[in-house]
Amino acid sequence: MKKLIIANWKCNPEKIKEGEKILRLLKNLTESKNQIVFCPPTIFLSHFLASFGSDFVFGVQNCYFEEKGAYTGEISPKMIEDVGAKYVIVGHSERRNIFDENDDQINKKLIKILETTKLTPILCIGENGEERANEKTFSVLGMQLNNCLNKIPKDKIKRIVIAYEPVWAIGTGIYATEDKISEAKLSIVKLLCDIYNEEIAKKVRIIYGGSVNPENIDMIVNKANMDGVLVGGSSLKPKEFSIIANT
Ligand code: PGA
Repeated sequence: MKKLIIANWKCNPEKIKEGEKILRLLKNLTESKNQIVFCPPTIFLSHFLASFGSDFVFGVQNCYFEEKGAYTGEISPKMIEDVGAKYVIVGHSERRNIFDENDDQINKKLIKILETTKLTPILCIGENGEERANEKTFSVLGMQLNNCLNKIPKDKIKRIVIAYEPVWAIGTGIYATEDKISEAKLSIVKLLCDIYNEEIAKKVRIIYGGSVNPENIDMIVNKANMDGVLVGGSSLKPKEFSIIANT
C-alpha cells in the first residue's frame, strides 16, 4: 500500500504567493510513489485547488460537526468536500490544547464526516510529556481511541487514518524512537482489535507525526513500519519535504 505523507501547514504561510512558491517547488512530487496530501490554511484552499488541483491532493486541518446553520466561523465536512478537498485532520493536539477540543467533540466530527461525506479523516491521538513520564502513554491512547471512536460502526472505521502524535514530539525536534513508535502502533492495533476485530485492526492505516524530518523518515516508515507520516515544520521547507515525500 502507498505510504501516506500529509503536510500540515498549520497557520502558515502568511501569503498565498508563498504557498504557491512552495507548491511550485514541489511539482516533482506529482511523480511520487507515495500518496502526498497538502493541508494548507482552509482560506487558501480554493486558490491552491484552482492552480494545483490537478497535481496534488488537498485536505484541511479541522472541521465542525454540524452540516450547516448558525455556527459563526465554522466549516462543515460537506463544505470541505464541496470545494474539492479529500482529507480532514481531526483532533490535532494544538486543537485540543489551544482551543480546548475534547474527545466528545472529536467523536462528533468523525461521525459527521463519515456519515455525510467521502472525506478521509485523520484522527490524531497521543500522550503529552508528563503522561509519558508517568507511564500513562498506553492508557491515554486507549482512552482517546475509545472516546473518539465511540459509536463509529465497523463498516466506517476503515476509512479513518489514525495519527500517533506524541505531543512532546510536535514542533520540538525531539522525535519518538523506533521502539516507542512501534510500541504505540502495537497498542493502537490491540485497541482496535478490542473495539472491533483483528481483520479490521489490520486494515486501519496508522501513521506517525512529531518532528518528522529527512533524517528520521526512513526509520519511521521502513523500520517502525508506519503507514505514513504527518509532517508539520518540514512540510514548509520544499527541499526537506521533497526528501521525506520521496522516501
Ligand atoms: P512537526 O508537527 O512536524 O512540526 O513536529 C507535526 C504535527 O503537528 O502534526
